[in-house]
Amino acid sequence: MQIQIDQNRLSAELEHLSSFSDAPAPAVTRILWTPSDLSARAYLKTLSDAEGFEWREDALGNTFIRLEGSDATLSAVATGSHIDAIPHSGRFDGTVGVLGGLEALRAIQNSGIKLQRSLELILFTAEEPTRFGVGCLGSRAMSGTLSVTQLEALVDGSGVSLNDARGTAGYTGSLENIALPEEFYHAFVELHIEQGPILEAEGQHIGLVTAIAAPASLILKLTGEGGHAGAMLMPVRRDALTAAAEIVLEVERAALETGSEDSVATVGRILNHPNNINAVPSSVELGLDLRDIDALRRDKMVARVLEAAHAVCVRRRVALEVQWLNQDPPAPSSERVLSAARAACSELGISPREMVSRAYHDSLFMARLCPVAMIFIPCLKGYSHRPDEFSSSEDIARGVEVLARALVNLAC
Ligand code: HGY
Ligand code: MN
Ligand code: MN
Repeated sequence: MQIQIDQNRLSAELEHLSSFSDAPAPAVTRILWTPSDLSARAYLKTLSDAEGFEWREDALGNTFIRLEGSDATLSAVATGSHIDAIPHSGRFDGTVGVLGGLEALRAIQNSGIKLQRSLELILFTAEEPTRFGVGCLGSRAMSGTLSVTQLEALVDGSGVSLNDARGTAGYTGSLENIALPEEFYHAFVELHIEQGPILEAEGQHIGLVTAIAAPASLILKLTGEGGHAGAMLMPVRRDALTAAAEIVLEVERAALETGSEDSVATVGRILNHPNNINAVPSSVELGLDLRDIDALRRDKMVARVLEAAHAVCVRRRVALEVQWLNQDPPAPSSERVLSAARAACSELGISPREMVSRAYHDSLFMARLCPVAMIFIPCLKGYSHRPDEFSSSEDIARGVEVLARALVNLAC
């Protein structure tokens, strides 16, 4: 099988894509349906048009770029990822799977290989939770994990509803048509940077993901009593921020004490009100992210955090409100898709490193629609969700070649 990846063109395209951002380079900020996001989407569509691929979009902006196979009666094989980026993050998270997926389709089209099944590259809407608080919005909707009612209830941090936001972005179709029937796709393979240090540390070129960790996220709202920083004496205080401070450490302790390195917990977001240096904080919002490859152990960790939070709030006479954002099970990869990827690696003389993904991805929800697997490439020191996130053009091109071969193995 002759597959030619144009490494320089792909690097240039990734570089250009990173210019659609609301943060100074090398950082990238690209939030759902902002002008930067819409320009990035338009750029992908021009690249697709240049190859003569057909594309379509659903009512949330999930974008499907198609390379026709010979047998239209067979379900397609899909690949894809995301191009939205959390504030002040990197250029490679998600984009490698989208532009790399496009390069894979181009290479397959140019190879003259006759595909039985069509191939679809999917740009998923809002893999990051930044705008509407829940991640994988597009793939959750496609897999029916988020209903139309739940989608329509979403409101962003400035009070804009999902429907208004998508309407302004030009997506006015019915949300009823987004969910896809099971087996709509024959298989789904996602190429992504590892977002962890293992491949680089072990000198491995390719990782194959055997399972994706189970993410849970929730908001804790603490309400105490505000007041003058000078005049409010300590014994009468119901300081929401000191209660939050204790809880943040309880979150860390809960992860450290499960006995497994697979348990991780983060308080990545805090809103303090009124946030004035000379005012006692009256209310605080904490954003919690807790994960584990073992869902039961993750849920025990969450339960322990909530128990500790309640105890702190009772002792400090602060009110506590818990708002769940998501509590998802882990997703195992499919043996069938993994063996297509393993075969692709052996065609290239690569012995892949099998591993779990501690980050979540759209594959986590595509797994509810069809068999999935993920292909990882190394990234510098495992850095991700930060401006110095980096993968070399050689590693990216190698990952794209493995992806292309895996897609051919699944579609022929
Ligand atoms: O948070 C995650 O795991 C993904 O990068 N959104
Ligand atoms: Mn990410
Ligand atoms: Mn990602």
